[in-house]
Amino acid sequence: MPLATTKGMFERAYKEGYAIGAFNVNNMEIVQGITEAAKEENAPLILQVSAGARKYAKHAYLMKLVEAALEDTGLPIALHLDHGPDFETCKSCIDGGFTSVMIDGSSRPFAENIEVTKQVVEYAHARGIVVEGELGQLAGVEDDVQVESHSYTDPSQVQEFVEKTGVDSLAIAIGTSHGAFKFKPGQKPQLRFDILAEVSARLPGFPIVLHGASSVIPELVEKINKYGGAMPDAIGIPEDMLREAAKSAVCKINIDSDLRLAMTATVREHFALHPADFDPRQYLKPARDAIKEMVKRKLVNVLGCSGKA
Ligand code: G3H
Ligand code: 13P
Ligand code: ZN
Repeated sequence: MPLATTKGMFERAYKEGYAIGAFNVNNMEIVQGITEAAKEENAPLILQVSAGARKYAKHAYLMKLVEAALEDTGLPIALHLDHGPDFETCKSCIDGGFTSVMIDGSSRPFAENIEVTKQVVEYAHARGIVVEGELGQLAGVEDDVQVESHSYTDPSQVQEFVEKTGVDSLAIAIGTSHGAFKFKPGQKPQLRFDILAEVSARLPGFPIVLHGASSVIPELVEKINKYGGAMPDAIGIPEDMLREAAKSAVCKINIDSDLRLAMTATVREHFALHPADFDPRQYLKPARDAIKEMVKRKLVNVLGCSGKA
């Protein structure tokens, strides 16, 4: 079974008011945890790989892991480049078998973002591959760079961007952010649903993407801190807000930090309770199970895509 493209996935998600989960993968246990959850929920899936993940695990290993997941589950799975920094990285992923790429020109001036996005779209579309672009900048940590405040997407720019570039989906900034520290302590989490509504009114039927959509479950943060971690002020986006977004034009929701937190909390707890263990399978198995449980939770509480494979 070949990798899926997101085109049909997004068309159905848009019509039926749910979103597809895009989960970051870096190693075998993460791929297995995510895909086992999707299999049990019969959900379509996007596995996404950042430039950092490609550097860590190598392109060839990640491709084979995702191919194995396809064979094992029979699910519609798209393989997507997350935050492609430039044309060359996107080209390399397209040539190397990905079915979707993101070109992240969001930190570039508008005209330059259009130019590089268009270049990627021309190369990708000629090969049947879809492209995600981004307008507006999320606050938070990304590739070790800390962006202090949101540059919310300007709805008056979205039509021009989509028309001039030909992108297939658009990531927008409405107050989500990357990492585990999305709001300051005491700050009330909120998203700019007014911007989302204006963007979707200007782009009828067009799939919108939300990055930085981890919810940073308090019990996991407590567990990490209980077993020697130091993340006292970690705060995420409430799941009910994301569920609301998934019912609208938002067709893809990116989640990475919640999986990292689930894995880390489990490994920390494991060593606290079993300090003599040294076989990696003893702590990676519960870590993989924790990822599976977290992805199931997202499919049900946030995405609403169970049974849609
Ligand atoms: O948005 C970024 C993703 O969470 C991937 O993070 O660049 O550390 O792999 P990474
Ligand atoms: P989180 O850090 O909120 O999980 O966001 C991940 C993301 O947007 C990957 O592109
Ligand atoms: Zn992102």
